[in-house]
Amino acid sequence: MADRLVSDVLTKPDVALEQTLRPSAFQDFTGQAKVKERLEIAVEAARRRNEALDHILISGPPGLGKTTIANILAKAMGAGLKTTSGPTIEKAADLAGLLTNLEEGDVLFIDEIHRLQKTIEEYLYPAMEDFKLDIIIDQGPNARSVRLNLPRFTLIGATTRSGLLSAPLLTRFGIRERLDYYDAAQIQTILLRAARLLRVSIESDGAMEIARRSRGTPRIAGNLLRRVRDFAEVRGDGRITAALADKALAILEIDENGLDEMDKRILETLIVKFGGGPAGLNSLAVAVGEEPDTLEEVYEPYLIMEGYLNRTPQGRTASERSYKKLGLKPLTPAQSRLI
Ligand SMILES: Nc1ncnc2c1ncn2[C@@H]1O[C@H](COP(=O)(O)OP(=O)(O)OP(=O)(O)O)[C@@H](O)[C@H]1O
Ligand SMILES: [Mg+2]
Repeated sequence: MADRLVSDVLTKPDVALEQTLRPSAFQDFTGQAKVKERLEIAVEAARRRNEALDHILISGPPGLGKTTIANILAKAMGAGLKTTSGPTIEKAADLAGLLTNLEEGDVLFIDEIHRLQKTIEEYLYPAMEDFKLDIIIDQGPNARSVRLNLPRFTLIGATTRSGLLSAPLLTRFGIRERLDYYDAAQIQTILLRAARLLRVSIESDGAMEIARRSRGTPRIAGNLLRRVRDFAEVRGDGRITAALADKALAILEIDENGLDEMDKRILETLIVKFGGGPAGLNSLAVAVGEEPDTLEEVYEPYLIMEGYLNRTPQGRTASERSYKKLGLKPLTPAQSRLI
């Protein structure tokens, strides 16, 4: 069966849907237990001291809940939230505008913070550290620097690529958390909650069937749920059972383990070009045409969690599950010596 790419069709955020499904408090946020606990403690402590939260960096692959957590944090602090993103801050003046409009305790959320320009990053350092902003006014011989005091605010940065952040920026975040892929049972819980909110009739086995193919990602799960609901309404009686979910997902040509095209390309390359490994991160990245840190931060964690790939001191190796998945056989020792 030609598997369609989960990533292409189903990872695009649907803004309206995500608003509906986005949990607004930690108690509705499933999974990421340790991250949640640490953040809840930080919020509670800051509230008791009546201080702004420390600056927080949230990293992790797309669709795992970074924006959701930023929203929950602002709400839990009873703070105002201003949202922007790395690429939209083009000039230092844009940043100055944002910072000077903040009120005491506000949260400034910068999405895709790894895409912030270096020159703008430098303005951010004193703002984060001392709540001061140095701006240059006038040009040429009259140019002079003026120091503005800023309210004590909380910067929440989100990034899918924390490896691209410079050390000075990274170290100015007092709290750094990384989100990981969810296991199928957690995605099942997220799906059952989403189904309730969307008034979709679903059996818990049906939710599990969708969960298994959601690549450990709540966003993909939410999108698949809607597609399966369509199928249930048009071809069934509206109720999502395991059998119905299975049929719907087969028609959608979703990989039965939720792998996307890049996942498969990585495994195939590792097996075919590198004889199953060990292959170094950089060589593997060049071979699949992806940047090493995207490979390491976005793709590998899921493949490792699901037991397709191992990280060893010698490099990456493909597990038996990868061979099975691709319908290939491991090389004999004699064959592997020829590679
Ligand atoms: N732990 C969770 N529990 C329930 N729903 C969740 C959870 N995490 C994410 N979601 C849902 O998944 C969707 C995507 O989450 P979100 O937008 O926060 O991801 P993101 O990490 O910011 O992604 P991107 O990197 O693309 O910005 C939202 O609809 C959100 O409601
Ligand atoms: Mg986001």
